[in-house]
Amino acid sequence: MTTTYRPTIRLTDRVSAMQESPTLAVLNRATALIAQGVDVVDFGPGEPDFATPHSIAEAGKRAIDRGFTKYTNASGTKALREAIAARYNRRYGMSLGFEHVIAGCGGKQELFNLALALVHEGDEVIIPTPYWVSFPDQVAFAGGTPVFAQASADDRFRPTLAGIEAVATERTRGVILNSPCNPTGAVIREEELSRIVEWCASRDAFLIFDETYELFVYDGNVHVSAMRWFDRYPETVIVVNSMSKTFAMTGWRLGYAIAHPEVISALGKIQSHSTSNPSTIAQQAALEALGGASEDAQRMHDAYSQRRAWLVPALNAIPGIGCADPDGAFYVFPEIRAFFGKGGITDSQSFAAYLLDEARVAVVPGGAFGADDFVRISYATSMERLHEGVARMHAALAKL
Ligand SMILES: Cc1ncc(COP(=O)(O)O)c(C=O)c1O
Repeated sequence: MTTTYRPTIRLTDRVSAMQESPTLAVLNRATALIAQGVDVVDFGPGEPDFATPHSIAEAGKRAIDRGFTKYTNASGTKALREAIAARYNRRYGMSLGFEHVIAGCGGKQELFNLALALVHEGDEVIIPTPYWVSFPDQVAFAGGTPVFAQASADDRFRPTLAGIEAVATERTRGVILNSPCNPTGAVIREEELSRIVEWCASRDAFLIFDETYELFVYDGNVHVSAMRWFDRYPETVIVVNSMSKTFAMTGWRLGYAIAHPEVISALGKIQSHSTSNPSTIAQQAALEALGGASEDAQRMHDAYSQRRAWLVPALNAIPGIGCADPDGAFYVFPEIRAFFGKGGITDSQSFAAYLLDEARVAVVPGGAFGADDFVRISYATSMERLHEGVARMHAALAKL
């Protein structure tokens, strides 16, 4: 007689509690429609529409030809870590060495590893709302509790110390800031950032500062990096950055963190037992980008700037839409609450579903970022598609 076994799949609580990225869910549905041949104007993407600049792509090809195809140090090559340190040293007159830098498979990996390295069970980590979708899940996965600090729409969602202080408790262990912000574009002001750094240092809390969109600021807005306070508070300030947006290298998977060498070693340990080094080929390409692709980055900045200048007034010309001028990044974050109660729309999710069904336009519901009265529209797409998409939105929303 044979016994029939009934093995079960028992997922951990920590993974069951994790939300699937809601931004990906919208993209998936739009992608499925596009695959069926439907003409969808996709305002969802969180990545540049530009190809990786030629010189960087060539450096990747050369890396393969020259045999850069083996493992490197799990934290990245010394040459790349030194090149990243040198970039910051040039900018801020610092003297960082390679031991302050780790390179990984995207900024996302470093943010995830930082949560694992710094967040203790039960710690609270303050995140201004609207927030980038992965921050809360990363904190929760590490055993912490994300606590949300409301930023004001009247001040274009720029984070403030007052907002952070209002939700701080004795369990507060750190703050995560993202400037320029995905999804709002908000760029934190220098005095406010200075106050937040001082506050974190005074409470022995870490400050993770994600400047993935550092280059993309417009209209006289100035990006201020928390790195400026690193020399004074090396135990407090941690900066995360990426090659993904600045150099249109999303698929290469190369990002980095700069922090106290003790934190960097901890991240290195995690990396050595998980992914090991980021792609050796991508590391060679990143060296090329850091050495001389700034003109390409500027060209992309100028294109985004032009699109934004057209897009904001065009959206505001749609009755019911209220769109502030974002300081930076490549997203606009219009308010759509005026449509609630019309045509079955009750929240940002049903608004996005309406647009996809009626206009074949994909936008990301603001609920995904903790702001349900808004949607995110990416202008990392051609001017032609922006014109088409906004015209379709105008027509579909006029029916309501
Ligand atoms: C705010 C923010 N931080 C970090 C990342 C991670 O980028 P990557 O892992 O490609 O470096 C993204 C990507 O969308 C982002 O929007």
